[in-house]
Amino acid sequence: MAKHSTAPLVSIQKRWPLIILVCIALSTAIAFFIGASFNSCSSRDYVENNDLNTPIHSFYSEKEEENPLNFMKSKLVLMVSHELSLSGGPLLLMELAFLLRAVGTRVVWITNQKPTERDKVIYSLEHRMRDRGVEVLPAKDQEAVDTALKADLVILNTAVAGKWLDAVLKENVPRVLPKVLWWIHEMRGHYFKLEYVKHLPFVAGAMIDSHITAEYWKNRTHERLGIKMPDTYVVHLGNSKDLMEVAEDIVARRVLREHIRESLGVRNDDLLFAIINSVSRGKGQDLFLKAFYEALQISQERKLKVPPMHAVVVGSDMGAQTKFETELRNFVADKKIHESVHFVNKTLNVAPYLASIDVLVQNSQARGECFGRITIEAMAFQIPVLGTAAGGTTEIVVNGTTGWLHPAGKEGVTPLAENIVQLASNVEMRKSMGRKGYNRVKEMFLEHHMSYRISLVLNEVLQKAKREAQ
Ligand SMILES: *[C@@H]1O[C@H](CO)[C@@H](O)[C@H](O)[C@H]1NC(C)=O
Ligand SMILES: *[C@@H]1O[C@H](CO)[C@@H](O)[C@H](O)[C@H]1NC(C)=O
Ligand SMILES: *[C@@H]1O[C@H](CO)[C@@H](O)[C@H](O)[C@H]1NC(C)=O
Repeated sequence: MAKHSTAPLVSIQKRWPLIILVCIALSTAIAFFIGASFNSCSSRDYVENNDLNTPIHSFYSEKEEENPLNFMKSKLVLMVSHELSLSGGPLLLMELAFLLRAVGTRVVWITNQKPTERDKVIYSLEHRMRDRGVEVLPAKDQEAVDTALKADLVILNTAVAGKWLDAVLKENVPRVLPKVLWWIHEMRGHYFKLEYVKHLPFVAGAMIDSHITAEYWKNRTHERLGIKMPDTYVVHLGNSKDLMEVAEDIVARRVLREHIRESLGVRNDDLLFAIINSVSRGKGQDLFLKAFYEALQISQERKLKVPPMHAVVVGSDMGAQTKFETELRNFVADKKIHESVHFVNKTLNVAPYLASIDVLVQNSQARGECFGRITIEAMAFQIPVLGTAAGGTTEIVVNGTTGWLHPAGKEGVTPLAENIVQLASNVEMRKSMGRKGYNRVKEMFLEHHMSYRISLVLNEVLQKAKREAQ
């Protein structure tokens, strides 16, 4: 499992502060970025119309010191976020804001929709941004309009943020559109509304988290709304340095693993299959539990010698989705599997769970995840993934190599059950798939890959905006 390529001495010195940090994170959940993974959609990868999607690591690893975003130094970027909360979309935009701040970009942030009463989360996120030199402005002031007119680049985050354009810029909309990069993370039908996206054809570019979602947007805007997508860039996400540091620290992982297993009342040798997503029908926890139950039956019928298996559902929120949550708990009670099924409340700090489990199940239904950040996070921890053959998952998981794909919907239950049994009874397969998943992350899904890919998009959009302005 040792995968430190750095000198052992270095990692030992680094280790203790890290463990302390991890332990603090355990009790206070301060580690926002360890798990920006909660939302479906968030990623970045290559440029569609150029030949930029060739492997870039060989090029990049030689010049790791050189930040590909350096050309953004002293540019002015306005970021317009639909909302500000601890969910995937805004956290990703913040991540980009910090990457740009690190190379000296002037970044101004606007949140279009804020509750009228004071909100603790918003307050702390804005504070965090100001600490890093991001200027936070009210959404609807004249200053917002002036900044949009002056900016080198305006980044709109999510389809819904399109509402900001007419509401605030008014007659200035046409002057700003040629320098707008629109970052889209949604793939549900109700986002295809002219009210949100009518300006989409006229912006400099759209950035979307997976190829399959980009394709879907092209289809739907054309067929449903009769509008044409602008130049579209697909940009897959990368894992943050913080997450990779924990994932690559054997001691930190062991501490976290022991802590979580103890809290769940699970032994060291037991097998944990976890689904880590906010609990809702779209994420498929119900079908996962059905498959898990089937897997228990199969292994009994076939008299397989497998360690005790557990299902862990991380992302519960009894307050929000009570009907569905109750349905899940009733199923567990009916089938008398309460000793093998564990519900864990929603948390942003997923690293401890990734350090403790044996297999990640990514069971998002219908069109699946737009990207599904938890998948690359799990792979960083050398965990094989059982995922639905839908959405961004198909661009991350290599079927038969880093995990197994099963169909979405009811017809996927038995294949998933078989895949669970297969991994449960084959420790070598688990290990080798985990290792290959980790290698894939190192090749394609790190922060520096993401920075590089995003730099290509920003550069192209800036050039285009400049040409338009002449
Ligand atoms: C888009 O439309 C084409 C042609 O109708 C179809 O083949 C393709 O599967 C569609 N893609 C998506 C993601 O809906
Ligand atoms: C989980 O959430 C429920 C309801 O939202 C709450 O009652 C319970 O105490 C929480 N459990 C933990 C371990 O925080
Ligand atoms: C994954 O590979 C297995 C074994 O080759 C195959 O049976 C299954 O259909 C594949 N799944 C997908 C979605 O391609």
